[in-house]
Amino acid sequence: MRVLIVLIALGLLTAPASAQDPLRHGRALLQEFCGSCHAIGSHDRSRHKGAPPFRTLGRSFDLDDFPRLLARGISSGHPDMPEFRFGDEDAHDASAYLRTIQQ
Ligand code: HEC
Repeated sequence: MRVLIVLIALGLLTAPASAQDPLRHGRALLQEFCGSCHAIGSHDRSRHKGAPPFRTLGRSFDLDDFPRLLARGISSGHPDMPEFRFGDEDAHDASAYLRTIQQ
């Protein structure tokens, strides 16, 4: 039993970030940087009541443009929302995840 636990822990610790599933990576990024305000899942509610849930972003944004927006730096002009800037790969993965939750 103990051996099994150690193997599982090693597997998690040694998996390089680039080998991650892009969608999981994208979700993790959004959870980390945006999840404190925006709902990032299919059913959850935004923690900041003024922040739209990400599953509706496709209504006001062309998601084809979203990787570029994220990489250029996104700021909604809302004082509560800090400006974010993602690297190309992060922007791509985050946008790929966003596509999967659109309603
Ligand atoms: C501190 C809270 C906070 C964080 C963190 C935050 N946002 Fe926001 N965001 C807001 C609020 C509040 C609004 C609504 C602004 C408004 O209506 O003027 C908003 C609006 C937006 C909009 C515009 C939505 C629309 O339909 O007009 C986008 C896109 C957006 N956020 C993306 C992000 C992304 C991507 C992240 C993470 C990288 C993020 N936000 C992190 C608070 C936040």
